Amino acid sequence: MAWRNKRSVMRRYNLTTLMYDSRYCEEQEAKYEAGLEGLSLGSGSVVLDVGCGSGMFFNQVACKAESVIGVDISRGLLHLAKERAKTCHNIFLIQADADHLPLRGNLFSHVFAFTVLQNMPKPVQTLQELKLVSKKDACFVVTGLKAAVSLEAFGEILEDAGLRTFSLRDEEALRCYVVRAVNK
Ligand SMILES: C[S@@+](CC[C@H](N)C(=O)[O-])C[C@H]1O[C@@H](n2cnc3c(N)ncnc32)[C@H](O)[C@@H]1O
Repeated sequence: MAWRNKRSVMRRYNLTTLMYDSRYCEEQEAKYEAGLEGLSLGSGSVVLDVGCGSGMFFNQVACKAESVIGVDISRGLLHLAKERAKTCHNIFLIQADADHLPLRGNLFSHVFAFTVLQNMPKPVQTLQELKLVSKKDACFVVTGLKAAVSLEAFGEILEDAGLRTFSLRDEEALRCYVVRAVNK
């Protein structure tokens, strides 16, 4: 059942390939700005951009980080991400389900999940999978779509996953709560 749902999500995003950037660029950029505010991404940072879509976020991090791994389930959006990544030597892309990452070890210093969790059947489980591949004390920037989850429920998801929230952005103009948290 879960996979059937994921497959339909994947097909839906594949169908958005032609219009994704033009439709969502402005909205997503506002979230990136909120998520990155005051965050230091050193040259040794290893970044996971989970549900990276067309890779619009790469511009913000690729020049600062050591490497960026983009993971997405949609082949169509990953195709756009691949085009975007061509100009950088340190971006690597993987087509995978965020609940079953083909990675092991404490790899990541920073994990970004912009507008992804609303697609996941068990978001706590998804975050736990992301923790498994992250360093202790890794910084997580996770957004919760306001139309899909209350702030209270989103806070519980993060807490149940074992993430300690230390900052929240919830302006009217953002369609998501933007939370910064640490892998406890
Ligand atoms: C609203 S888009 C956000 C894309 C990107 N983070 C951005 O800022 O533009 C949600 C993304 O999550 C991806 N996604 C949905 N379910 C997924 C899953 N189970 N595993 C990995 N990616 C998934 C979709 O393919 C889509 O690219």
